[in-house]
Amino acid sequence: MVAKVEEEGKKIAARKKTEKSSKNKTHQNSYKVERVKTGIFGLDKLTQGGFVEGSSVLVSGETGTGKTIFCLQYLWEGLKNDEPGVYITLEESAEEIKKDALVFGWDFEKYEKEGKFKIIEKNVFEDINLEFFEIDELKAKRVVIDSVSLFSLVIEDKASMRNKLKELIKSLKERGITVLLTSEIVGEGFSRLGVEEFLADGIIVLKSIPMGKTNQRTLEVRKIRRTKISEGIHNIEFYKNGIKVLD
Ligand SMILES: Nc1ncnc2c1ncn2[C@@H]1O[C@H](COP(=O)(O)OP(=O)(O)OP(=O)(O)O)[C@@H](O)[C@H]1O
Ligand SMILES: [Mg+2]
Repeated sequence: MVAKVEEEGKKIAARKKTEKSSKNKTHQNSYKVERVKTGIFGLDKLTQGGFVEGSSVLVSGETGTGKTIFCLQYLWEGLKNDEPGVYITLEESAEEIKKDALVFGWDFEKYEKEGKFKIIEKNVFEDINLEFFEIDELKAKRVVIDSVSLFSLVIEDKASMRNKLKELIKSLKERGITVLLTSEIVGEGFSRLGVEEFLADGIIVLKSIPMGKTNQRTLEVRKIRRTKISEGIHNIEFYKNGIKVLD
């Protein structure tokens, strides 16, 4: 059953890809990259209009830097524009995630009831495969996996970790889904395992730097394939309705 649904998903994605490539090629040398609005205030202008549709973006940062909020804001933007979304959580419970979101005025339950949004709680110790059935049923355009770092708890060796993640990202991208993966940074690098960044098409780095009695929060767009990005470190703030890039 799952295999059949997966097969169907692939066929739909392949058809969409063909339609899109003929739509994009107005003449031989012009290729328009389809963009997905990030929903983070001020971020799209740093990335030529948003993330590349059907790509994967790693949101990395230490604990408490805003990775979860960033991802929720991204999904909320989609829902407002009739793009269904799925939040796969390996850390917080679905209830906690919904409470995190409500603080910013994002009532995900409303969309859940309409069948446009779903939180899937994964117990990383039991199973790291995804039920694409649920993602296909919702016709999800946006998926978040928070966080992929926890996969390291079940998969010791880096090579199989990389392959597993690669498969997972591929299956989502084949469906035309734009996926955000969060990863915790510990020390140097962009991720806990040191493999996630090589699989992602884009990397956003969030930081919280101690400044006297407060912390300065920053965002850096490290890479977005097929995109001229605005380089450098940008200050960000958490407003009552989400994260905003200041400069
Ligand atoms: N309403 C709010 N206004 C301002 N800042 C907030 C608000 N809600 C949460 N924060 C800040 O957001 C941070 C937590 O964000 P978030 O949970 O997205 O971090 P995270 O990177 O996902 O952390 P972890 O790695 O532990 O999951 C906290 O440090 C908190 O100070
Ligand atoms: Mg989090």
